Amino acid sequence: MVSRRRLIELGGLAAGGALLVSSSGTATSAAPSTHHDHVIPGHRHDLPFVGSAVAATPFSVEMPLPSTIAPTKSDSDTDYYYLHMRRTTAEIIPGLTTPVLGFNGSFIGPTIRARTGRTAVVVQTNMLDEPTAVHLHGAHAPAASDGHPMDLIQPGSQKTYIYPNRQRGATLWYHDHAHHMEAEHVYRGLAGLYLLEDPAEAQLGLPNGQFDVPIMLRDAQFAADGSMIWTLGDFQNRNTVLVNGRPQPYLRVAARKYRLRLVNASNLRAYQLRLGNGEEVVQIASDGGLLPAPYRTDTIPLWPGERVEVVVDFSKFPIGTQLVLENTYGDQDSNRSLMRFDVTWSATDDSTVPAQLAPAPELPPATYYRTISLGLNPATFQFQIDGKSFDPNRVDAYVRRGATEIWQVTNLDTAFGIPHDFHIHLVQFKVLDRNGAPPGPGESGWKDTVVVNPGETVRLQATFADYKGRFVYHCHLIDHSSEGMMAQMEVL
Ligand code: C2O
Ligand code: CU
Ligand code: CU
Repeated sequence: MVSRRRLIELGGLAAGGALLVSSSGTATSAAPSTHHDHVIPGHRHDLPFVGSAVAATPFSVEMPLPSTIAPTKSDSDTDYYYLHMRRTTAEIIPGLTTPVLGFNGSFIGPTIRARTGRTAVVVQTNMLDEPTAVHLHGAHAPAASDGHPMDLIQPGSQKTYIYPNRQRGATLWYHDHAHHMEAEHVYRGLAGLYLLEDPAEAQLGLPNGQFDVPIMLRDAQFAADGSMIWTLGDFQNRNTVLVNGRPQPYLRVAARKYRLRLVNASNLRAYQLRLGNGEEVVQIASDGGLLPAPYRTDTIPLWPGERVEVVVDFSKFPIGTQLVLENTYGDQDSNRSLMRFDVTWSATDDSTVPAQLAPAPELPPATYYRTISLGLNPATFQFQIDGKSFDPNRVDAYVRRGATEIWQVTNLDTAFGIPHDFHIHLVQFKVLDRNGAPPGPGESGWKDTVVVNPGETVRLQATFADYKGRFVYHCHLIDHSSEGMMAQMEVL
């Protein structure tokens, strides 16, 4: 018997409370009339709204940049990195100390700057008292280095991950993936950036160096003592958004062009970003790297796991201008006014955004078709894929190595209005269409994670090249995947 409470905690009996506005599905759509309200995914309505018990004064702390880790050694074609996971503390809310889990003891792990064409070897040591698995999200890597949820690093042990980096430059990120624990581990801090720099990009003249800035967004609930409160599925109380690990920071910028790499590392929260009074930004990249062409927009949807890169030209604004990065899905200041850019000084700018960025995704014709459904099981009230919860001993899809397939993914959760967020390991895919309509320009490049709104069908095409073995696909609302909204394919 499924209790009423259980149904409620899964977001089934949503009534009142904060609503999440979901995008109509295409990255192009900025018109509010095409939006409809959806219930928070996995929202527990049995919990009272408390929210964070502490708050920062808006725009009182500077936005930090996660530190970059240099390779311990490098040879002709490989760079070697050593990371460990341990318990540590961080100052997140000004003046308070928060216990966190951190790669190399830092809340937001160190940024790895890898290069297309050079192998990165990352040795991970687990100094926690729980098993972990480290997944490089967006990477095309062998199964043994994928961080499969059952391929665990036991406490006190280490594992060597080998990343060939034979793919387009992109903003990737690494995070824990230990089955049933990934949601809490990521929430408590086990995530970091992996920026894959591509020599082919260098000639384009995009903003670089200090003008190339990663911005990682995620939310959390804080107790009065500064500790983070973890409750699976409790979206509404995670009402404080952190930007690179701090609430509502400011960033001093020069009056010139910047490349901003936006990463949604939240468990459940989707963002719809808007700069200032709806200033135009230029989207240049999606999950898997540069778009075919820049795309001018004033609205950037960003679902958990997704990355979007934009170029913002701050030279349009006089020195002294302050521009708030707003989340129009936010329902209170702590998750609506995310950060502020303060245009502080002038600087020379020889960067450009060329009219052509990178070749559009091209794939051989598909030879195999699959249909996949996402939804709440009405009998068990669990979020599932194809009506099944994850079973590590079951293979859900056998894929021929090298095959090009079309996956038709449908979200059945119309009754409860719950969006899901589909992610496949190993590949970058091309979004063919949403409910039969071509994707917007923001989704016209390589993707590895895509929102599927209630009732929607999204078709994806991918080539499963190079590596054999087992890889998972799952909902990247990771409270859902943690509960079993995950399946696995075996590439043969
Ligand atoms: Cu971000 Cu299965 O991963
Ligand atoms: Cu992934
Ligand atoms: Cu889901």
